[in-house]
Amino acid sequence: MRCYARNFFRWIVAAVLILCYTLLILLWQVDVPRNQVSQWSQSKDGVASVVNAKTREFFQERSPRSLQNLEHENQNFILRIPAQVTTAKDNLNTTLSTNLNDLFISVKTTKNFHQSRLNVILQTWFVLAREQTYFFTDADDAVYSSRTRGHFINTNCSSSHNRKALCCKMSVEFDAFLDSSKKWFCHFDDDNYVNVPRLVKLLQTYNPQEDWYLGKPSIRSPLEIISRYDKQKNISFWFATGGAGFCISRALALKMLPIASGGKFISIGEKIRLPDDVTMGYIIEHILQKKLTVVDLFHSHFEPMKFLKQESFVDQISFSYSRFGHEMNVLKIDGFDEKVDPTRFLSLHCHLFPNFSFCPS
Ligand SMILES: *[C@@H]1O[C@H](CO)[C@@H](O)[C@H](O)[C@H]1NC(C)=O
Ligand SMILES: *[C@@H]1O[C@H](CO)[C@@H](O)[C@H](O)[C@H]1NC(C)=O
Ligand SMILES: *[C@@H]1O[C@H](CO)[C@@H](O)[C@H](O)[C@H]1NC(C)=O
Ligand SMILES: *[C@@H]1O[C@H](CO)[C@@H](O)[C@H](O)[C@H]1NC(C)=O
Repeated sequence: MRCYARNFFRWIVAAVLILCYTLLILLWQVDVPRNQVSQWSQSKDGVASVVNAKTREFFQERSPRSLQNLEHENQNFILRIPAQVTTAKDNLNTTLSTNLNDLFISVKTTKNFHQSRLNVILQTWFVLAREQTYFFTDADDAVYSSRTRGHFINTNCSSSHNRKALCCKMSVEFDAFLDSSKKWFCHFDDDNYVNVPRLVKLLQTYNPQEDWYLGKPSIRSPLEIISRYDKQKNISFWFATGGAGFCISRALALKMLPIASGGKFISIGEKIRLPDDVTMGYIIEHILQKKLTVVDLFHSHFEPMKFLKQESFVDQISFSYSRFGHEMNVLKIDGFDEKVDPTRFLSLHCHLFPNFSFCPS
């Protein structure tokens, strides 16, 4: 009888142990995704916020980091609290096959800025991407055409800074990219400095055969417009600020081809009556239903440049400058005198590439 009781007791102990073990395993598995998310959100490796589709719900509350500190924005639009936050796909895989030669870099300019804005570009970052960079302007200019070895395209668009002229240039840029056999289309403005090696490094982490729209919004929440053509429906979408630069993969550009190529981009811009970069967002996010992936490393002149830390310059992809009355919005960086280098791009370039001949040795 005592023997029977001891056996029974042993069985009970064994059952309890098995139960505890199973519970432990279950708890551990449930906890895994949460750990992953906190790891990823902390890792500041520069590349866009990485969110696994399975764990996206943990991120819903977070608004894009890039939108902090940005108040003075496009006030002409109806803006609302975000209905949804940009989703970035899992992109931990690194496709190292992309190199500089896979890029088509376009720089939008206009005849009045050739002299004042292009010289510093041609002296600095353009040297590192001569074969890949094309300027899109609105007049013939023999001097700059020769200095860029013919990479100077007269779009025949109007030289005014209105919506139609801007969309017209973007349309020509887009068509020129489609005609090239490059994997990535990256657009910049003539007041941008592009950190070429960093841009290449970014694109190496995305597969150009997938749909990618990489850039940085300059508004806190998706743009909301009331479509007059769509039964007064409210539509909302994100767009990457053109003035910070953005990139589009070839796969996505090919999906845009039937709606936006051959000048159709201009018609869409006219229809929704919004500028070129907004039109791009409208086509990609609203019409094609593909998401913008926020990359904080792009910077437009809407941001106060002085807040960028000198130690972090090497990790940023684009920079800009602007003037508000007497005050210049420029990078804070030691280097050349302000008279010689009002945009601070020469100093920035020497900081990044001290091997250039004009840099102090
Ligand atoms: C990353 O991509 C390469 C090529 O597309 C593929 O062979 C590899 O299995 C991928 N690695 C992971 C971890 O997904
Ligand atoms: C602009 O017009 C000139 C002269 O008509 C033409 O040769 C050129 O191809 C046009 N440029 C574009 C981008 O269409
Ligand atoms: C669209 O938004 C406006 C203002 O936010 C609102 O008044 C209107 O009712 C909305 N219309 C629709 C169709 O949702
Ligand atoms: C300076 O160094 C970079 C790499 O850091 C290289 O790509 C570039 O060709 C060099 N430029 C000159 C002018 O030596």
